[in-house]
Amino acid sequence: MGTVVRAIPRTGSATTGWHLRSADASSGIAGGDERAEQLDDDALAPAPMSKRVRIESLWNSVKFVRRQGDVLFGDAAGGSDVLCYDLAGGPGPVTVVCNPAHITSIMTADPAIAPSATRQSPLRPIVGPNSVLTSIGERHRRQRALLMPRFHGRSVAAYRESIERATAARIDAWPVGEPVRLADLAQHLTLDVIMSAVFGLPDGRPTTEAERALRTALIRALHMSTQPVATAAQLMNGFSENPVGVTKLVLRPVDRAISGILAERRAESGRRERTDITALLLDARTEDGQPLSDGEIRDELLTLVLAGHETTANTVAWTFERLTRNPGVYDDAREAVAAGDDGYVAALLNESMRNRPVVPMVAREMLRPWRFGTTLVPSGMTVLVSILLLHHRDDLYPRPFAFDPGRFLGVRPAPHTLLPFGGGNRRCLGAALAMAELTTVVTEILRRVDLETHDRPAERPRHRNVTMIPQDGGLVRALAVR
Ligand code: HEM
Repeated sequence: MGTVVRAIPRTGSATTGWHLRSADASSGIAGGDERAEQLDDDALAPAPMSKRVRIESLWNSVKFVRRQGDVLFGDAAGGSDVLCYDLAGGPGPVTVVCNPAHITSIMTADPAIAPSATRQSPLRPIVGPNSVLTSIGERHRRQRALLMPRFHGRSVAAYRESIERATAARIDAWPVGEPVRLADLAQHLTLDVIMSAVFGLPDGRPTTEAERALRTALIRALHMSTQPVATAAQLMNGFSENPVGVTKLVLRPVDRAISGILAERRAESGRRERTDITALLLDARTEDGQPLSDGEIRDELLTLVLAGHETTANTVAWTFERLTRNPGVYDDAREAVAAGDDGYVAALLNESMRNRPVVPMVAREMLRPWRFGTTLVPSGMTVLVSILLLHHRDDLYPRPFAFDPGRFLGVRPAPHTLLPFGGGNRRCLGAALAMAELTTVVTEILRRVDLETHDRPAERPRHRNVTMIPQDGGLVRALAVR
């Protein structure tokens, strides 16, 4: 299995990708005061100012958003597992937590008291306020209950063949000897899968004019979202409910195309049996018998397409970014796949999502005062659950910056210690679909493609919207494809 071009040391800062004060040796976060509780309304003691870092300049706020890992690891190196920030231009003070006991208290709280902070999500101006991702309360509960069955095990099993076909086609076309950005390759594949699940396109391929227009508009919009202008667009949108500027321009053709699909589906009503999510939403009725409006359906469809493909594609990219810099692990993974050891692939994916969680934090609004250890936060505070810091605690994961799937072999992680898909009543709706895609794609690449491994510096994490992605898209080169 020897495909290593140049051997690299198994540890060392060149392979971690983080520029940290405490990287490799220790995350610095361990133990801490585990007390976490919801307090009475009159317990209004604010987070002690001594613990709150005021980030005065807009530039440093942007750095916090764009280089979250560097800032958080640096601040957590002091040993604190509760960090408080006041970001210039931000929504007000925020508290960052990464202690499993504190996280459990949030994730198991009544969602009416600790709802998702969706009104601050950078995705809201894009996918709108009506979707399962951006709504809260009763509307969220209803939409989640409607969609959930389509993302459970049996439904996901039905997508498996389509995932296998899409994977085989992309690997067959792999250009040997050329640098390939795995995020791009995987994104085509995950787009095919999600288009098939959401719009019922066979293997993601359009069969009508409206479907063709939709696929083209989506690919254009997704391409735009990878360009530097997307960051400016995100800042321009701020916390507004509706898209402005470039975002509005880019979304217009997508909205038109979705309207076209809905019109086409209504026109064919009754003539064709459909099981896709568009059909589900068109048939759905509220408790008082009303259909969903086109705007509501549009928000839901766009959410599923956006949430459902970039996250998965970049997890594939990170997995091979890590493997190509850890040749010993790469060889172990290929041997395990050759031996049909599915348990190893599951451990590899856990380790990849622990080491490089594509969604590095999730946010909740605390509508009651709360205690996290010795820090009291007042009602109204936004709490950011740092999945990145949680996953690098050395009391949970010894040598947290090492890439070692062995730590998950035969191990079921304790509750709220491994959270790539978030948790509570907002846990990722597509987790089972994502795992099915990741397992197939990663197994098949390991089985069929010989990748060059090397000692180039690790790819730096880049933050786009809510995701943390490899800055070069997980650049790899195939030496051979079988
Ligand atoms: C590796 C791939 C993926 C990762 C890492 C991921 C991660 C996440 C995370 C962290 C959240 C927020 C959870 C929280 O607030 O606690 C989320 C929400 C969500 N994800 Fe995923 N996701 C992935 C793939 C998918 C796929 C394939 C779909 C398919 C449609 C999807 C649909 C959603 C939806 C609809 C929500 C909102 C759920 C709600 O608020 O009730 N995701 N995801």
